[in-house]
Amino acid sequence: MGSPVGITLDRFIKSKQDDFPFASGELSQILRDIALASKIVNREINRAGLSNISGAYGSTNVQGEEQQNLDVVANIRFCRALTKGGEVCAIVSEEDDEVIDLQNSSGKYVVAMDPLDGSSNIDVNISIGTIFSIYRRVTPLGSPIQLEDVMQPGNKQVAAGYVLYGSSTMLVYTTGRGVNGFTYEHSLGEFFLSHPKMKAPLDGKIYSINEGLDSQIDEGLKQYIADCKAKNFSARYIGSLVADFHRNLLKGGIYIYPSTTKAPKGKLRLLYEANSLAFIAEQAGASASDGENRILDIIPDSLHQRTPLYIGSTEMVKTAEQTLREAK
Ligand code: AHG
Ligand code: MN
Ligand code: MN
Ligand code: MN
Repeated sequence: MGSPVGITLDRFIKSKQDDFPFASGELSQILRDIALASKIVNREINRAGLSNISGAYGSTNVQGEEQQNLDVVANIRFCRALTKGGEVCAIVSEEDDEVIDLQNSSGKYVVAMDPLDGSSNIDVNISIGTIFSIYRRVTPLGSPIQLEDVMQPGNKQVAAGYVLYGSSTMLVYTTGRGVNGFTYEHSLGEFFLSHPKMKAPLDGKIYSINEGLDSQIDEGLKQYIADCKAKNFSARYIGSLVADFHRNLLKGGIYIYPSTTKAPKGKLRLLYEANSLAFIAEQAGASASDGENRILDIIPDSLHQRTPLYIGSTEMVKTAEQTLREAK
């Protein structure tokens, strides 16, 4: 029997508003802004094959990646919605080298986002996502934005979430009081609560890693992967972090993007991929580390810094960490 569908995201956000004495409607407004932008991006994605929106944009982002049109379109849509919403003073985006200062002196919040996750899957009709984190600014209102406003450890997040543009479009978020998932009903243009109080299985039998990296990873990780195979675990790797993470959160599993010889800090970005999903993971009873340290405790030292990521069912993350330790 499905979960109690019926409450819209808007009504759910309003019903939780009094959880935040200090935030009155501000945080709610930001979540509504993000939901609005995700509906617009969802429509662009669904039409990608029919409009000239697929393909490369023709420039390279600060990551050294060739930007896809949809990376740029999604970035514009989320920035525009957050600007119009009026509650945000600064944005860190995967697609922008520098902090985006919204020149909004009354904005109390900062958003870090990956506007389009899984770009390599856009043109081949495979699930992609959006990832976001929300922080309160730490410097005085009205003063110029400082780096300390945007480079906060993940344990300071006020909220985090992701949108999964998959076989259905879902928005999943936490404000530190559990994780709730909403499914988009296109015909009504509304997200409806479909996955209340999401909890991850403590253990699992799915491991997600790009095994093409085998020649570049530590002996300990090779051992962990061999142990997964010896236990007949399933290998599932979509190439879209949001999709792999969401499946593992629901079914139990671990997603690993490790340190490699070519990329010792791994590929994934701390501020708008690892931190956001780590907050959600822990709120759902799962775990997230860099193979040793809790992701949420990492003190950032640059906007687009990368980190190895081991995220998913707590028992699997612990076993992976232990195997890495024993191999040292
Ligand atoms: P993004 O598209 O936002 O740059 O992120 C892509 C990430 C993540 O979504 C995915 O799991 C990983 O890159 C895939 O990397 P590989 O192709 O190296 O496996
Ligand atoms: Mn990218
Ligand atoms: Mn990404
Ligand atoms: Mn991206």
